[in-house]
Amino acid sequence: MTLLPTIKQLLSMEAVGQSVTIRGWVRTKRETKQAVFLEVNDGSCLSNIQCVLDSFLRQNQSTNESILRLSTGASVEIIGELVPSPAKGQRVEVKCQQLKLIGEAPPERYPLQKKAHSLEFLREIAHLRVRTNTFAAVARVRNRMAFAIHQFFQERGFYYIHTPIITTSDAEGAGAMFQVTSLDLEALSKSGTPIDYEKDFFGRKAFLTVSGQLNVETYCQALSRVYTFGPTFRAENSNTTRHLAEFWMIEPEMAFAHLDDNIALATEFIQNLVAIALQDCAEDIAFFDQRIQPGLRESLERVVQTSFTRMSYTEAIRELEDSHAVFEFKPYWGCDLQSEHEKFLTEKVAGGPVVVTDYPKEIKAFYMKQNEDGKTVAAMDVLVPRFGEIIGGSEREWRLDLLEKRMEELGLAKEPYQWYLDLRRYGSTPHSGFGLGFERLLLYITGMTNIRDVIPFPRAPRQADF
Ligand code: 4AD
Ligand code: MG
Repeated sequence: MTLLPTIKQLLSMEAVGQSVTIRGWVRTKRETKQAVFLEVNDGSCLSNIQCVLDSFLRQNQSTNESILRLSTGASVEIIGELVPSPAKGQRVEVKCQQLKLIGEAPPERYPLQKKAHSLEFLREIAHLRVRTNTFAAVARVRNRMAFAIHQFFQERGFYYIHTPIITTSDAEGAGAMFQVTSLDLEALSKSGTPIDYEKDFFGRKAFLTVSGQLNVETYCQALSRVYTFGPTFRAENSNTTRHLAEFWMIEPEMAFAHLDDNIALATEFIQNLVAIALQDCAEDIAFFDQRIQPGLRESLERVVQTSFTRMSYTEAIRELEDSHAVFEFKPYWGCDLQSEHEKFLTEKVAGGPVVVTDYPKEIKAFYMKQNEDGKTVAAMDVLVPRFGEIIGGSEREWRLDLLEKRMEELGLAKEPYQWYLDLRRYGSTPHSGFGLGFERLLLYITGMTNIRDVIPFPRAPRQADF
């Protein structure tokens, strides 16, 4: 099968004089005495292609009927000639020779008419919202970034590992988990018999994973440089613009690597992705800059050129305390950084991304490498303006005795983690990694403000339609 050129390809080829076939959806129809002007979009790029139907085409009865029934949202096939356009803002247009109306979109029922709709309204019609400029642009950037992520790691000798989605361990206490079961809960609850997980599918309790990290560490200890990129699930009841119950995470893990290597990788990673977005998604970024987040492009350009500010958690707390800014949650040494603190550090202190290191061990996961001071761990979070944390990571505790001791302090049962402890028993290495929330990255790059608008079908508390 040979595919027809997309509108994006046609617009870039500018093959004036060529006969072309356009298939897409009508964005607008405008009629004058001499002609009908259709703006047609096929999603390949933000731009529409203008198709001009001279009035003589209307002499054909069936074409004229089609023109009458054409409206915003209808699908069409147009055959014509690519000609230079006299209109402003476009170099070429299609002089239509044949028009076929393929699928109508009756204006009295089709919800996406020309007027701008609120993002809230569009969230209620997630199956149609991708037909708007905003959501199609998000989809294109999301696609390019997913590809860029693989390119970034593949070019640097990392192997892509598929970690499981169903897990039987609460990986790291990263959040409440969704339980997975094949038991008939309704029947069990009616009969009043206590649940026996021996009888459940896996013979024990199972969950959806909150992170692929612990599994990917096993591959790290053989392939040296690895990464996962998959869906993760958290059942916290966080009804915020930064949290999803189902989100995608990228988790690289490097053997023989320390915290500084980890920070260097994370910084290069973000800068690389932003640079690719600016270059390859220029039209969509320009749209976001104009319509969604004024100043976006300039701030992204700065991110590529400027090195990230680095400070320890202790320094960050001092900055917050000394600022005398009013916070809803008063910062103190030992507190978890709230998103208001993260925003302050990035927007007011650094004016760009900040890497915060060496957090108190009490507020971080059991696997993080313990520092000499006995109080902090070799953790690193990358924070960005507008919403705070985009990356969380650390050097891992690779010394068996210290890891076991930490698990005991936290009251973690060691039995389910024997496989994880084996990595420290046999050929252990210092190693480090981090997790980048894919949708947080997209918020950052598109300037969208609600995380539910950068994933096709968001899952959040009481939201799992479509
Ligand atoms: O900081 P987190 O919880 O770290 C981990 O899961 C580690 N296992 C990562 C690692 O070291 N391999 O999550 C990592 C990132 C966060 O910085 C954030 O960007 C994103 O995942 N994230 C969420 N994104 C959307 N919705 C949520 N509920 C999220 N929770 C975390
Ligand atoms: Mg975190």
